[in-house]
Amino acid sequence: MATTAFYSFSAILLLSLLFSLTNACFPSDRAALLAFKSTLHEPNLHLFDSWSGSNCCHRWYGVSCDRETSRVADINLRGESEDPLFRNANTSSGFMTGSISPAVCLLPRLSALTLADWKALSGPIPPCLTSLPFLRILDLAGNRFSGQIPPDLGRLSRLAVVNLADNQISGQIPASIANLTSLTHLDLRGNQISGQIPYNFGNLRMLSRALLSRNKLTGSIPPSLSYIYRLSDLDLSLNSLSGPIPAGLGKMAVLATLNLDGNKISGTIPATLIGSGISILNLSRNEIGGDIPDVFGARSYFTVMDLSYNNLSGRIPKSISAATFVGHLDVSHNHLCGAIPAGAPFDHLEASSFAYNDCLCGKPLNPC
Ligand SMILES: *[C@@H]1O[C@H](CO)[C@@H](O)[C@H](O)[C@H]1NC(C)=O
Ligand SMILES: *[C@@H]1O[C@H](CO)[C@@H](O)[C@H](O)[C@H]1NC(C)=O
Ligand SMILES: *[C@@H]1O[C@H](CO)[C@@H](O)[C@H](O)[C@H]1NC(C)=O
Ligand SMILES: *[C@@H]1O[C@H](CO)[C@@H](O)[C@H](O)[C@H]1NC(C)=O
Repeated sequence: MATTAFYSFSAILLLSLLFSLTNACFPSDRAALLAFKSTLHEPNLHLFDSWSGSNCCHRWYGVSCDRETSRVADINLRGESEDPLFRNANTSSGFMTGSISPAVCLLPRLSALTLADWKALSGPIPPCLTSLPFLRILDLAGNRFSGQIPPDLGRLSRLAVVNLADNQISGQIPASIANLTSLTHLDLRGNQISGQIPYNFGNLRMLSRALLSRNKLTGSIPPSLSYIYRLSDLDLSLNSLSGPIPAGLGKMAVLATLNLDGNKISGTIPATLIGSGISILNLSRNEIGGDIPDVFGARSYFTVMDLSYNNLSGRIPKSISAATFVGHLDVSHNHLCGAIPAGAPFDHLEASSFAYNDCLCGKPLNPC
């Protein structure tokens, strides 16, 4: 009895000793983090003061380690936070300057790198990041990072989230991006990215949000986009895209938001868009011509339908009064003509929704 108790006691001791050993961070991870910290300057919150002592897995602000491997897994530093550190400093938003040291690539098990909303971080995205096979989240939004997206980003087969929004990234969307078959969230809004959307972008079968607005993209919208059956939010607005709207976009299972406004898109409005699951549709400020398709029905439910500033002609289709809901409708600045249909969707609309057309008439404009 006594020996059994002794053995189990020793086993527990040994286990806890092992635990405390394995829970300590690897010296090479600690060295990489200190090198990473040395190129960053955060003057207000002094959060890097916590990056001291030998155990980088313990109370280093924003650092967490994998329980099994004890390797550094996450660096999560957000400049907009409810964290007590921010509250005590009487601010909800942080400020940081400096750049990302390539030393971050010496953390072989890194799965998340978040350095978001610090306003002033700059320099390039280190190309060596693509050698981190476990990377799942790359969030550098809201800074001044520049240079191009690493061309071989497509090597990161586990990558699920790429958020580089609101930086100064230039160059093209790398062709290899189509290989990121785990990608669910891509946000490149508000950069200076040019060139075309890769034709095989539709290979990104897990993608649910593709946000590419406010860039300098050219060329046409790849029809392959309509194969991304999980895609719910597609924002290509405020670029220089041309060519037609692929009709397939109106046949997508869960697409709810389609923003193509502020481009040079031509052709006509595909009839498929009208009876689709899309509830926010902004096609404003393009070169879209032809008629508004007369195929509204019970499946048409639009919280926003903005078709303003195009080259639409003909009448506002009568079937639009059969739509289940049309919240905000704007057809101003086109070449529409004829009587505005009567009915529920129109009762709450103002004259400005119909202004600057060739010869529209009836409520809320002048009688015909
Ligand atoms: C934080 O801000 C509030 C209101 O601006 C002020 O009353 C308070 O004294 C500030 N606290 C600190 C610690 O600076
Ligand atoms: C995508 O992956 C395949 C297979 O691993 C590879 O042959 C191809 O070169 C990759 N494409 C790009 C553009 O990197
Ligand atoms: C649609 O896009 C235009 C142009 O980018 C913008 O001005 C407008 O506010 C958008 N409409 C709605 C309802 O958001
Ligand atoms: C607008 O549409 C008319 C035909 O309705 C066409 O003649 C004209 O070229 C179009 N304008 C532009 C700028 O696309």
